[in-house]
Amino acid sequence: MDDRPKAASGSAETLPMAEPDPSGERIVVKSALASLGTPEHFTKYDSIVPTSQLGDRKVMMGDDPALPKMSAAPNLFEFFEKRLHPHTVNHMLQSAHLALTSGVDEKGVLACLLHDIAVAGLISGDHGYWGAQLIEPYVDEEVAWAVRYHQALRFFPDPSVGYDYPQVYIDLFGEDYRPEPYIYAAYDYARNHKWYGRARMITVNDLYSFAPNSTVKLDDFTDIIGRHFRQPKEGLGFDNSPTAHMWRTMIWPRNFL
Ligand SMILES: [Fe+2]
Ligand SMILES: [Fe+2]
Repeated sequence: MDDRPKAASGSAETLPMAEPDPSGERIVVKSALASLGTPEHFTKYDSIVPTSQLGDRKVMMGDDPALPKMSAAPNLFEFFEKRLHPHTVNHMLQSAHLALTSGVDEKGVLACLLHDIAVAGLISGDHGYWGAQLIEPYVDEEVAWAVRYHQALRFFPDPSVGYDYPQVYIDLFGEDYRPEPYIYAAYDYARNHKWYGRARMITVNDLYSFAPNSTVKLDDFTDIIGRHFRQPKEGLGFDNSPTAHMWRTMIWPRNFL
């Protein structure tokens, strides 16, 4: 039985979806990241070439009828509700809750709340780096730094804070798995950095089961987000920040271009 605390995140089934395209279903051509390693990678343009044959059928651009419609100026809460995967949202909420109840300061709680945001809504591989970059314009430097390096630190125990190599990694990767050399290098760098404790703190709170039957809601962190996440008034994706395009890609993940 799954006795993990339940997050009160939005379900895609209850959210308003984008309007269906009256001209018929849009043709979705997967991004390289989604098609690499599959036979589809080499055939995905077959359905649109030559383009002169398309007629009224068009490729996916703009609001995707398969996804909840985003507002014109979405904030972080809206991404949590409409784009981030509920399982990972639940995990991040639990992590932030554990940090909060353990006495971690507000910036640390925010780091826990966002630490796997790339897994939840963008790209899993190298998720610490993608996640850090995504949030960098909107959080304190050390919060983004901690998100970046928690990925490497997860592979390395630190008995001084009671952090062991995760059993879940043995389950997922096998007993014999060893990270790539760049992860060792990142660990060595982070281990000697003044903010090591920040990233290590994320790993200490990076757990899935700690408080059965408790409910953790994003609303519980409204004040902390308000104080430490610089929400742009134009909306995430439209503020011309260096990572606005990454938020737009989450809004329109299946756009042709
Ligand atoms: Fe992570
Ligand atoms: Fe995590």
